[in-house]
Amino acid sequence: MTKELRLTSAYSKTITTTLLIVCLSLFINLSAETKRPVRAKNGMVVSPSTLATDIGVEILKNGGNAVDASVAVGFALAVCYPSAGNIGGGGFMVIHLEDGKSTTIDFRERAPLSVHKDIYLDEDGNYNPDLSTKGWTSAGVPGSVAGLIYALEKYGTMRLSEVITPAIKLAENGFEVGYDLANHINIFNEDFNEYEASKEIFTAEGDSLNEDHFLVQKELANALKLIKENGRDGFYKGYIADLIVKQSFDNGGYITHKDLQEYNPVERMPIKGNYKGYEIISMPPPSSGGIALVQSLNILENFEFAKNAWHSSDYIHKTVEALKKVYADRSQHLGDSDFYDVPAQWLTSKLYAKSIFDKIKTIATPSDSIAPGIPVTYESKETTHYSIVDEFGNAVSTTVTLNSSYGNKIVVEGAGFLLNNEMDDFNAKPGEPNQYGLIGGEANSIQPGKRMLSSMTPTIVLEDGKPYIVVGSPGGSQIITSVLQVILNCIDFNMDIQGAIDMPRFHHQWYPDEILFEEFGTTHDVISNLILKGHNIGEADSWIGRVQGILIDQENNVIFGGTDSRAFGKAVGY
Ligand code: GLY
Repeated sequence: MTKELRLTSAYSKTITTTLLIVCLSLFINLSAETKRPVRAKNGMVVSPSTLATDIGVEILKNGGNAVDASVAVGFALAVCYPSAGNIGGGGFMVIHLEDGKSTTIDFRERAPLSVHKDIYLDEDGNYNPDLSTKGWTSAGVPGSVAGLIYALEKYGTMRLSEVITPAIKLAENGFEVGYDLANHINIFNEDFNEYEASKEIFTAEGDSLNEDHFLVQKELANALKLIKENGRDGFYKGYIADLIVKQSFDNGGYITHKDLQEYNPVERMPIKGNYKGYEIISMPPPSSGGIALVQSLNILENFEFAKNAWHSSDYIHKTVEALKKVYADRSQHLGDSDFYDVPAQWLTSKLYAKSIFDKIKTIATPSDSIAPGIPVTYESKETTHYSIVDEFGNAVSTTVTLNSSYGNKIVVEGAGFLLNNEMDDFNAKPGEPNQYGLIGGEANSIQPGKRMLSSMTPTIVLEDGKPYIVVGSPGGSQIITSVLQVILNCIDFNMDIQGAIDMPRFHHQWYPDEILFEEFGTTHDVISNLILKGHNIGEADSWIGRVQGILIDQENNVIFGGTDSRAFGKAVGY
């Protein structure tokens, strides 16, 4: 069975339950009058958790800048949004400073130094997805603690103790999980029951959590205190490091003390692009997000979309034709640029985009005529994003992840935090013809110390050099198309940020060769026209993206925040 099919069946229960929850929330939110964006004058925090948003806003009100608030929200999400917020995983931060400088911080997990390219193959050379998704073998070296502290020390204004204390209090004093979080945690009840420390925190003595369950995380609070007192050494050396390394060794994992001590975040030049006069600032490799976003926008810039063309079959056709080529290129060329020569300049050039645009016809191009490359297989949709702007003119766009929901579901015993299963984002078996007969994947092959390819696309759009949109999303391979559509909704269709986020989305990723729509995301007429053009149509398993975004009207000095109605976040300004 292919990796994709296997995971699809493994996740089917999850998806069905998630679908029920999401459909309910969609009905509740979208059947009401269109929500208006939250307005503010000074600053704005939009995150997937009301608790984390409130912590971020407090930091801003206390004089912190957007980086201070982003670090505080990052640590808070590790406590109150455990499916993706983390200290045992990684992420990316895109920063635009009031002085005009833009930069990015890569705190993506790395492959442990003792791995080799065949670690997920069985004795017959077949890929075994259990090894890259479950257990200690699936964990990359966590990057979040080092990355958040690096950002704070270089671009923040507050002390670590100030920004981490709210998360410590939240873990120590606890909070009521509520309906949505309880439901989400309970989806994975069976998994949590496999590990004593996970069972302790995420089940009620093995049973499902009630919505009024009070989640107290003393060991996580202690881990955060060690970080508060010792900085990054509180995580990468000493008590916590010893726990990680011992449990990893005892359970066949790869992470060693050397891996932890040598982990460093990397400050990288952003991927920059230009779309219809707006500047795009996004994440470079090891994320594929920035390059794929800019490449898509460069191709689409050659079209003029009338306002009433939104979600017409013509608009969808053109966007999908661009996306097919973008995702094919992603699969062939993108990986960790510290290990692989990624042709970023070429992929993001207007010249290359024009050559792709010139080949777009009025009928669909079959995906198997677009080669070479290796298709994107299942990518976990559980990741999370938050967007923050401050009164000084700084903007920060941060996406973090454990890969799957709650990562590999293993809580490190004695330390209270969940570990990632990010190793699954590598191509476990490159260089051999896949199910589609295509060859590729070396760019994202497993190598010691390498970072696995990501789709996370934290992005800032500038207008006249000042932040205009701050945006990002979870959604695995659907992150790129979600961020793209929100930007197009704002720029081409003049929507406000809440509307731009809430509108239905579609997705195509080259393989499988089908356009996915959200439920009620299009009409019969549009689908008929797309089929006439030669497209295949599918339905997304649930949502496509859960975007958290900010739009700034610089002229009138108003900040607008929008949180996706597909999720349960909150936008708060002041
Ligand atoms: N693991 C999801 C991503 O990095 O895109």
